[in-house]
Amino acid sequence: MANQEDFFKKVVSHAKEYGFIFPSSEIYDGLAAVYDYGQLGTELKNNIKQYWWRAMVQYHENIVGIDSAIFMHPKIWKASGHVDAFNDPLIDNKDSKKRYRADVLIEDHIAKIEDKINKECAKAAKRFGDAFNREQFVTTNARVLEHQKQIDEIREKYAECMNANDLAGLKQLILDLGIVDPISGTRNWTDVRQFNLMFATKMGSVIDDSDTLYLRPETAQGIFVNFLNVQKSGRMKIPFGIAQIGKAFRNEIVARQFIFRMREFEQMEMQFFVRPGTELEWFKHWKEERLRWHLALGIPAEKYRYHDHEKLAHYANAATDIEFEFPFGFKELEGIHSRTDFDLSRHSEFSGKKLQYFDSELNESYIPYVIETSIGVDRTFLAIFSHALKDEVLPDGSTRTVLSLPAVLAPYKAAILPLVKKDGLPEKAREIMDSLKYDYMLQYDEKDAIGRRYRRQDAIGTPYCITVDNDTLNDNSVTVRDRDTMQQERIPIENLSLFLHQHIQPIKVD
Ligand code: GAP
Repeated sequence: MANQEDFFKKVVSHAKEYGFIFPSSEIYDGLAAVYDYGQLGTELKNNIKQYWWRAMVQYHENIVGIDSAIFMHPKIWKASGHVDAFNDPLIDNKDSKKRYRADVLIEDHIAKIEDKINKECAKAAKRFGDAFNREQFVTTNARVLEHQKQIDEIREKYAECMNANDLAGLKQLILDLGIVDPISGTRNWTDVRQFNLMFATKMGSVIDDSDTLYLRPETAQGIFVNFLNVQKSGRMKIPFGIAQIGKAFRNEIVARQFIFRMREFEQMEMQFFVRPGTELEWFKHWKEERLRWHLALGIPAEKYRYHDHEKLAHYANAATDIEFEFPFGFKELEGIHSRTDFDLSRHSEFSGKKLQYFDSELNESYIPYVIETSIGVDRTFLAIFSHALKDEVLPDGSTRTVLSLPAVLAPYKAAILPLVKKDGLPEKAREIMDSLKYDYMLQYDEKDAIGRRYRRQDAIGTPYCITVDNDTLNDNSVTVRDRDTMQQERIPIENLSLFLHQHIQPIKVD
């Protein structure tokens, strides 16, 4: 774990050093859980969004994209349930004056017990060597079983309290477990209370309750309230989808793990409207389709897993998360939910407008059911960036830091490097740059020895370095170096565009 912690620190510092991500308002000592994307981070982020948009909107005739406003009518958040139920249970420590999420304190306590189980397993694995069978060990070892029993009991009590909205019970559980504040070390806790995660603001000049607006905590509601507009103006036939990429805001109390949990973040969401009764087939379809999208980036399949929800929200009849193995463990990257007709029904009820679809094949009107796919741009960035970052020892014993980003997402597709800054090589390099720059993001670099320039490009993830040398002036060819294999090949300048085109594609997944 210590290694993973060090690695995660490296991810954060590499992102800053090379212009991917900066702490927001840094010269004013930063603003907690808010980050700015720098010059390279913006390119990578835009490429992620484009990759998603193409896969969802461009490649599907029956999915269209919108861009709804962040400010929305306040009644929308009543209808969606966010005003009443988008809460976290909070507790303060009276000595440290720090605020915590009660559920996170309990989860952290459970994680400590899980650590004990892992330590028992590690000890046993050492003792038994190759003969060690973890499955068998955890189901028979008395100490492990005792720890597991504790975990199960805590989870059960916790679920009971959450389901019954029993905040006093939650506090009692924290006291019973002897959970102390990590800062003050005391158990001097306040009562637990619910805290709404939406940021509120005021619109207009009159300050009264009626004009309280919320910064949207998800982009999905902008899609639901435009369902009829899009369906009618686009003459959309069910099944069809509406996609959107945009900012969302949540007043996260425990905002940590860099860009994993932020207060201002971006979502890529798609609501797919289907005939009632067909939703579970479509749920299965999107569950598989979304994983294929991830795999097409070339990241190994074992870095992803599904986490099917056993406990469903009252409006959902199926839900799963696609989890990714971040440097701090498997965590949610994307959610896929079968949301029934909950949202459209609620908006019909609250707005007084019929949000129905006339199905000419069935000759009847109904409120469509919805499958939602919802993924964070920033979490996707973190998953891809942290997986790509590596320190490598080369055959000659030297080391390099390389960011093996999927070529389709890399900020620069190629670097154009004249071998030396004389003999007409910079001019030739500029000529090549000018012929390719309208199709590809390129970086020109003539400073320092070629080896150092290669390393700089490795560190920012540029898949190809195109070197212009003296032979180029005679044979009109250049050397193209592959970032990952470091192999070099000679390519005629006239073939460069086709070469880049062929090598900068997402991987096809069958
Ligand atoms: N409309 C459904 C919805 O918003 P969610 O599970 O709350 O569902 C969807 O959020 C995705 O948005 C998550 O899987 C995650 O990738 C991203 N996300 C949620 N909260 C986030 C935060 N505070 N910071 C960064 N990304 C977040």
